[in-house]
Amino acid sequence: MNPADPVLSLIRPEILALTPYSSARKESSGGRVWLDANENPQTPSAGKPLLNRYPEPQPADLVARLADYYAVAPENILVTRGSDEGIDLLLRAFCRAGSDSILITPPTYGMYAVSAAIQHAAVVSVPLVAAKNFALDAGAVLQAAQPGVKLVFLCSPNNPTGALLDRTAVLSVARALLGRAVVVVDEAYLEFAGTRSLATELTAQPNLIVLRTLSKAFGLAGVRCGVTIASPALIGVLQKIIAPYPVPTPVLHAALAAVSPEGLAAARASVQSLVAERRRLAAALAALPAVRRVWPSDANFLLFETTDSARVMSATRAAGVVLRDRSRDHGLANCVRMTMGTPEENNAALEVLARV
Ligand SMILES: Cc1ncc(COP(=O)(O)O)c(C=O)c1O
Repeated sequence: MNPADPVLSLIRPEILALTPYSSARKESSGGRVWLDANENPQTPSAGKPLLNRYPEPQPADLVARLADYYAVAPENILVTRGSDEGIDLLLRAFCRAGSDSILITPPTYGMYAVSAAIQHAAVVSVPLVAAKNFALDAGAVLQAAQPGVKLVFLCSPNNPTGALLDRTAVLSVARALLGRAVVVVDEAYLEFAGTRSLATELTAQPNLIVLRTLSKAFGLAGVRCGVTIASPALIGVLQKIIAPYPVPTPVLHAALAAVSPEGLAAARASVQSLVAERRRLAAALAALPAVRRVWPSDANFLLFETTDSARVMSATRAAGVVLRDRSRDHGLANCVRMTMGTPEENNAALEVLARV
């Protein structure tokens, strides 16, 4: 590894120097009689598929299909336990406890700050511009990205606001920070926006990292399968610190089915129907007396400002309809987030909201 690399030079030196655990599956593949990994030769409970063997650390067939789907090389891919694990790995790789920090743009996804706290990294906040549909303030981000800020987390489309960040603004931040910080673009909801991923810019912009997930468009939140897309050198570093077997065999099977041609077609149809629901619900919510405004969304949820979020939350809770109160998030007083469910579920929510 070349420590003069503009990204590797930002990694914690002890991680760069780390000799990772060498698992049995890493050390040898092939062979006929497997007696190297202290596995049981049978699965006594005899389930299918057989689960007695440790899985490949990064299953090559899944990595190849994901690379195809995300239009990058297999060397750019790390499969993780949800994209939440990708966030945690990045914090651990880049931030020295007690001295380094991350930058976030509130209101945004809560796990960036939580993973930072676990790693004892400070959090610098540069709010999105509410008056411009929660746009990125690239100038303010660059001003706040002092030495010590190692990771800039940008969520696009952003949770909980729903808006895509401007591609040019994100790229301008990454360009200006090359050699100083890494820009992590969390694209968990990108399929619902119908736009190009920033992963296509990876080769030109090596300090860009993209996070994707099978939890949203593929409807596999229960499977816990996320993807970190980055330069091969950085993927190599993350492979040193990830747990030895992060892709359990049942997860592998579910993920392979999801990115098969049939799985991809099904996911596309699902995204289309959820986007249609988003359109219908945005109009329906906007017409309700308890709703002041509905923010435009590129994701599978809508954020709306209510006249009184406490009343909305207690009325919906009493009716068994579970929404997410976002009123304590930066700049989101009285705001509530609603995920797009089935048309029946959405109608049930509308009915209760109409009575608030
Ligand atoms: C923006 C964003 N990133 C990441 C995640 C975590 O996704 P995963 O299920 O892949 O861990 C979520 C989950 O809600 C999210 O909203």
